Amino acid sequence: MEQDRIDGHNRRAFFTRAGVFALAPLAANIAAGTPAAAASGKFDFDTPLNRLGTDSVHWDMPVRDEKMTKIVAGMGVADMDFRCAPAITEALQKRVAFPNWGYNMIDGDLFMGNAGGSPFIRGIIDWNKRRYGITNIDPKLLGISAGVIPGVISALQAFAPQGSKVLMVTPSYVGFYAAIGITKTVAEESPMKLVNGRYEIDWADFERRMTPDVKVSILCNPHNPGGRVWTRDELTRYGQLCNKHNIIVLSDEIHCDFISKGHKYTPYATLDKALVDNSITFKSGSKSFSLAAMKCAWFFSTNPKLFAATNAMSLPSISNPAMIAEQAAYAGGEGWLNQCVDYVDGNLDYAHDYITKNLPLIKTGAKPEGTYLMWLDMTQVADKIGAKKMADAANAKTPLPMNPLTHQPVITTQGDIVSHWLAKNAYVFMESGSGFGKVGANYVRMNVATPRVTLKAGLDSVAAALKGLA
Ligand SMILES: Cc1ncc(COP(=O)(O)O)c(C=O)c1O
Repeated sequence: MEQDRIDGHNRRAFFTRAGVFALAPLAANIAAGTPAAAASGKFDFDTPLNRLGTDSVHWDMPVRDEKMTKIVAGMGVADMDFRCAPAITEALQKRVAFPNWGYNMIDGDLFMGNAGGSPFIRGIIDWNKRRYGITNIDPKLLGISAGVIPGVISALQAFAPQGSKVLMVTPSYVGFYAAIGITKTVAEESPMKLVNGRYEIDWADFERRMTPDVKVSILCNPHNPGGRVWTRDELTRYGQLCNKHNIIVLSDEIHCDFISKGHKYTPYATLDKALVDNSITFKSGSKSFSLAAMKCAWFFSTNPKLFAATNAMSLPSISNPAMIAEQAAYAGGEGWLNQCVDYVDGNLDYAHDYITKNLPLIKTGAKPEGTYLMWLDMTQVADKIGAKKMADAANAKTPLPMNPLTHQPVITTQGDIVSHWLAKNAYVFMESGSGFGKVGANYVRMNVATPRVTLKAGLDSVAAALKGLA
């Protein structure tokens, strides 16, 4: 039988026929990062890439949903408009040349065994050690998920019974509300304080909400949409309070690479051991390398019990291209990423300066310390366009439609009206803050991860539209 011969001396012949030897150099190449991919030099973040017509949530979705007749800038969902790191494209092109898409081992080394962790897993661990100083990731306590949010959902399923509360400081990333809706838990919102245009945790309020029905707190580090890069002291205080009240910390660190100059990312996993042991960290290359559509993320804990409970709720199913893209990014994309982070930081400076000087109806607060997102207070724009009246009229309709993810009624906010108004009048899409918690009602979130020329065109277009209101 063929199988017998595979296990015996005809194994080489079988693999040759199956194309394995043709694939082996590919595997080695991906693991090491190709020389071309690792090459330094200047990457092009300036030349726009037309994403229209690619089913992108960033551009095509607003055109469809807002019925836009033209679009100057998509500034909504958190992905980037740049060409991805060449290392990723090269690795994927090589894999695509092999015309078979059968099941792949996630933690295997393309037929080469898994001693000490596969190159994929080792790539993740080495990257975290080298780039962020996270030295305590045990490959046996590392799980793979098809996105950070699926990982968070697994942890909520493991630790937060239906009906229990999930504590977050708000505003807070919209996807957490989806995770809470899916797991039938309840968001417990602790609104942050704005101090000189910068968000700070209201520690008294935060602790007051730590009632026995709160089992889990989702921390966003760095914080989307508030733009805070939490300091070690803040994270320690957060962790000490959670430990004191037996609340497990789920630390979402997906934005960890986008840190503005003068700030420093502190991984939760580098705090004191007692705090780290009460946490699970969720990460991915999806924001750093704009690989969101690949659906590849991972989580780890130093606490075997927390890891096992989360992992038991998780189906570690990712696609083979996702794995290859992530691996190639870590092996050969760091030079690209460093330049990208600098470019985005320049965009944040540019947009912050532009809005402060030219758009007095929009309040920006302090420049974000991290992420490529700006959280804009649109109260004055809302007043000018009569948003309250429009929102009230929408909310008077019964029954209100239900949000299929959060299972909550859809309440129209002033931020929703402003977002629609910008799409119609400025041909720019910014995401309404309504999904980011009650405090987001008058806000929109603006994504600046785009070529500067597109950013400028978007802001100019907003300026022209607002001029008509003055
Ligand atoms: C803080 C945060 N977590 C998670 C996600 C989504 O992650 P994924 O697509 O891997 O589920 C996002 C996307 O914007 C995000 O901002």
